[in-house]
Amino acid sequence: MSGALPPVAPLVVCWQAEHGRSSLPWQCTRDPYRVWLSEIMLQQTQVATVLDYYARFLAQFPDVHALAAAPPDDVLALWSGLGYYSRARNLHRCAQQVVQVHGGRFPATVAELSALPGIGRSTAGAIAAFCFGQRAPILDANVRRVLTRLLGFDGDLAQAAQERALWQHAQDLLPTQQLDESMPRYTQGMMDLGAMVCLPRQPRCEACPLQAHCVARAKGTPEQYPVRTRKLVRKAQAWWLLQLQDAQGQVWLERRPERGIWAGLYSLPVFEEREALMAWLEGAQAQLQQEHPSMLHVLTHRDLYLHRVVATVAQPPAMPVPGGWYALAETAALGLAAPVRKLLQSGAA
Ligand code: ADE
Ligand code: SF4
Repeated sequence: MSGALPPVAPLVVCWQAEHGRSSLPWQCTRDPYRVWLSEIMLQQTQVATVLDYYARFLAQFPDVHALAAAPPDDVLALWSGLGYYSRARNLHRCAQQVVQVHGGRFPATVAELSALPGIGRSTAGAIAAFCFGQRAPILDANVRRVLTRLLGFDGDLAQAAQERALWQHAQDLLPTQQLDESMPRYTQGMMDLGAMVCLPRQPRCEACPLQAHCVARAKGTPEQYPVRTRKLVRKAQAWWLLQLQDAQGQVWLERRPERGIWAGLYSLPVFEEREALMAWLEGAQAQLQQEHPSMLHVLTHRDLYLHRVVATVAQPPAMPVPGGWYALAETAALGLAAPVRKLLQSGAA
């Protein structure tokens, strides 16, 4: 890519007004608390799922003071099911800092916002633009895709210098007039383009307001953007395996999905975070019996640390995924994931 940037901001603003999303609950407000809450929830969760959680969260914690004063367990309980529990912990800490450091009012600048727990540069930009009409860019995965295609930006975003260059382009493309009106609309418009038009595969270029300026469309290669080499690092991952036993000593096993680790095999229920397992136990009124030290299981692409947590229930609860109760003696005949077999054989508790 080369030369001056195309003047796309007015196109995005007009398109958003006519075709973008307009009735999401967090769009009807400039209250930074509400906008912040929605942005954090939307970071790794779909809009449809967030809607319910958002309403319940606001009903229980209508403002930042209520959230800051809440016991951490209440916050985690309301978050239960959204995943990524570090988000919930940071959410709570952030609310407390806003109260303690900023007197209960969210700051208006990207610099101050991104100094708060759990608020990265893009989320800070979104809050500053939506609530304060600041000329601040966002660069989440959707917007990254739109911008790299529009500009034909083929730098490797795994490199910090390229990532910085794209941020600078995002900054330079922002609206320059009537910011109080245009910045919220432009910001929402970029998100909407990424979610509705400039899709990861088979983008709907014929419906795109940027088509006349788009380098990737002209080349016929939108799907080749963004460019990011994958660093081949071995990943470490932790799983919490729930060994849930009923009054007869039967254990609950579930079938793993047809794709991914232990595809199609039987396993103890898998939780990706300890908090999620603990929240589930509480909801099911199960008694925690024992947490075992983790066991390393080496896979081709990652090191899996397995934590076995033993719990008991008097009444078998409704289980989150299909599976069944099995006497320990029966489990030997099942297609069990090998490490699960090992764990089960190493003792009932
Ligand atoms: N994802 C992140 N922020 C969003 C917003 N404001 N509207 C819709 N989806 C989003
Ligand atoms: Fe994306 Fe196509 Fe629009 Fe270019 S023209 S920004 S590739 S949807």
